[in-house]
Formats: sequence, structure tokens, C-alpha cells
Amino acid sequence: MNHWGHKHVIDLSTFSIEDYSLVLTLANRFKKVPVTGAGRLPALQGKLITTLFFESSTRTRSSFEIAAKRLSADVQSFSANTSSLNKGESYLDTALTYVAMGADVLVVRHSSTNIPQKLASYLDNIGEKTSILNGGDGLHSHPSQGLLDLFTLANFFSPNDPSTESLKGKQVTIVGDILHSRVARSNLWSLTACGANVVLCGPPSLVPKEFIDFVKRPPSGQKLDPIKKRGTLKISRNLKQSLEDADAIMTLRLQKERMQENLLSSMETYHDEYGLTLEKLKWCKNKVPVLHPGPVNRGLEISGDILEDRSICLIEKQVSNGVPIRMALLYLLGNQ
Ligand code: CP
Repeated sequence: MNHWGHKHVIDLSTFSIEDYSLVLTLANRFKKVPVTGAGRLPALQGKLITTLFFESSTRTRSSFEIAAKRLSADVQSFSANTSSLNKGESYLDTALTYVAMGADVLVVRHSSTNIPQKLASYLDNIGEKTSILNGGDGLHSHPSQGLLDLFTLANFFSPNDPSTESLKGKQVTIVGDILHSRVARSNLWSLTACGANVVLCGPPSLVPKEFIDFVKRPPSGQKLDPIKKRGTLKISRNLKQSLEDADAIMTLRLQKERMQENLLSSMETYHDEYGLTLEKLKWCKNKVPVLHPGPVNRGLEISGDILEDRSICLIEKQVSNGVPIRMALLYLLGNQ
């Protein structure tokens, strides 16, 4: 079918440029598939996709479920709040229960880093064929979000041919709570792989200087970086400077629930220095799009006037592009 060689999708650090191209090409085709009825594709007929979300989600979980249905898969949705986790069952035994029910792909979200990786290794060791698709783990990785952001930017820069090439040489400024963001980490791998130059902007408490080395070497346990030459990565403390040459801006939610100590003097100061407003977007040389993975703290990292300006704000497009991107991932994992 293609060169695809991943049984599981855990982290975009393992993606080659051919992997990105394949996912974008498939997503572009799936974008045109009708929502309901006979228009559904039979690609995953007879397959069972289980969304195993141990942490809350609106966008990711729902769009994986829509994506699976559009490919004619059976969908099993797990609700942590009403599950036997409340009786002390472990995440591993919970996952194995769904494997025993025949899940072909488990989409796993967990608040702890590396749970999807541990599950994947466990299943490989016992010879189970079930694939793990990371729906977001701790601070580590959110690969489907990184891919849908890439697809959204590729569509913005090159609507007729949204390929990896369309990102080459573009400056993407990512503003805000990088420290707690698995989305930012996944975007760092995907954007630099496609030749985009990334500027991370925020205070030292949320953008530690160590991030400068983030894509210099693959994570521990991974021998090689499949990308020969990545785009550059810089850190800026100055929002005005980091916006001047931006071709696109991504702002991130302040993850107050993950902030264990007082990392900011106040939310008001943060908003004044790093919160995006239409007024501050005038610092950009060109009219540039603004992305945000959601959910949003309206009026904190991004103002309501940007959210309401569809000529600038791509958030709705990110959400709708999540479906074809997740169709592409489920198609690739479900057809092995
Ligand atoms: N962007 C994202 O992961 O949103 P949810 O938490 O709603 O899935």
C-alpha cells in the first residue's frame, strides 16, 4: 500500500518526511468524504476502535470517534468516571479488558507521561496485534494534534497543494505555556521536520532555556532522527520581536491545573506581556493566522476579538481538520 511502518503512533519524533506526506495526502482525500449514510468509506469495516481516555477531552476524543465512524469502524467509547477504575482497576487491566473485547486500535489519553508507550510495549511483548494511538500523554506528546496543526498550516499556506513543502522557511511563533504543553512538543517535531523555523516566546518560567535543544537529538530510547535537516528553533522573551517576522502564530492555553507552584506573578501581568490581542497583532509585518489547540482561556492567552475574527483565527479550521487527520491515522493503523 505504502511505506508506512508504524504499528503504534506515540510521538512524532519517529516520523519521517514520507510519513508526514502520507498522512497529509490521505487527510486531504478524506476531507472530501461526506459525513453520513452511504458516503462513508468501508476502509475499516469490521474493525473496532476504542477511545480509552483516562483524562478529559472534548475535541480529540469526539473527532477520533467521528473519524472512525466515517471509515465504517465499530466504535467503543470508554468513560473513566463510570468505569471500574473507581473500584481500583488499573489503567493496564482496563486497557487489556478492551483488547480482550477485540479492539484493533486503542486511542489512549492519560495525564501521566508515557502511559501509551508502556501499553504499546506491553502489548508487543505479549504478542497482541492491537495498535496504540496516543491521544495525548502528560507533558509528552499529542501527535494527532501536531498533525492537524501541520495540515491546517499547510492548507493556509498552500490551499491547492497542502503538502509538507508548504511549511519550508516559514516562521511559526509559538507563544505561552510551552513547559506544560504536549501540543507544543509535538509541533516542534512536526514543524521543524517540514523546514519551518520555530520561535518559542514566553517568560523563563514557561519557556525554560533548555527547550533550545529540544529537536537536536531524538528522545531517549530512540536511536536516530529520521529527519536529515530540520528548521531552526529560537527562544524569545519579547512578544513584539517574535511577532514581527511571523508567518503564523500559535498560542497555548495556560495550563493552570498543571502549575504546581507560582510560575507567574499574576494572570493580568501575563496577559499584558504575552496575551494575544488584535492590537498586538499589528506588530506583525503581514496579516498572519492565529492557531490555538483549545480549550481556550478567553481573555487570558488570547482575546475575544481574535477568536471572533475568522479571517485571522484558524481554531475552527483546526477542529474540523482534526477529523480527516484522525481518519488518516486510523486508516493507517487499522489496515496493517
Ligand atoms: N486540543 C485538545 O487536545 O483538546 P481536548 O482536550 O478537548 O481533546
